Amino acid sequence: MTVIPYDVLAHEAWARLAQAADDPTHPMRLFLLATVDADGLPDARLMVLRGAGRRLGKIWFYTDRRSEKVEQLRKRPELCAVTYDCRDGVQLRLRGAATIHELDSEAAQHWSHTSTVVRALYASPYAPGRPLRLPDPRLMTIKHALDAGAEAVARQNFAVIETLVQTIEWLQLKDDDQRRAILYASTGWAVQPLAP
Ligand SMILES: Cc1cc2nc3c(=O)[nH]c(=O)nc-3n(C[C@H](O)[C@H](O)[C@H](O)COP(=O)(O)O)c2cc1C
Repeated sequence: MTVIPYDVLAHEAWARLAQAADDPTHPMRLFLLATVDADGLPDARLMVLRGAGRRLGKIWFYTDRRSEKVEQLRKRPELCAVTYDCRDGVQLRLRGAATIHELDSEAAQHWSHTSTVVRALYASPYAPGRPLRLPDPRLMTIKHALDAGAEAVARQNFAVIETLVQTIEWLQLKDDDQRRAILYASTGWAVQPLAP
């Protein structure tokens, strides 16, 4: 396993994020996204990374606008997102400020790149997390085709969580080697080594 030198951490972190957003098999495609709920308590869930770009310093997730996390981020738009590359033991912890895009041009641009399977996730008449009196078999299968009506509903429910990343914390752990550092957007991702 290679240990990444400090001087290339910014390049390495953003390269991994961009690759993960493009490659469904990349281990860093899956993030734990943490928010704060209405009672000030922590909440977290797994999310697929859908985009990352160093030039804008942003990452993007897709979700349903009716979901709890969107409500939470509207009230308190700070988030923390953590991912792990099991191939060489690298953890990335990103902190930033979220903007929710729904029916604007940004959401439209992301929507135009989504597959039918992704679109179908947003076509449910029920808000995610809504209690059901009985399990509904129609809600248990992800659809692979949508008629125009269902697609229009899905589009209404689709939201993009755009995050302006403020810090990236890098941690690589290996038996006899460990490195921790923080990279700040405000300094152009200059690397500040930290005690692991
Ligand atoms: C592997 C995996 C990937 C997931 N990806 C997403 C995703 O990209 N967007 C999303 O909204 N929910 C995703 N989910 C579901 C969330 O983890 C969560 O259960 C759901 O969004 C409701 O969260 P909330 O009630 O906090 O809003 C995923 C779940 C798993 C297990």
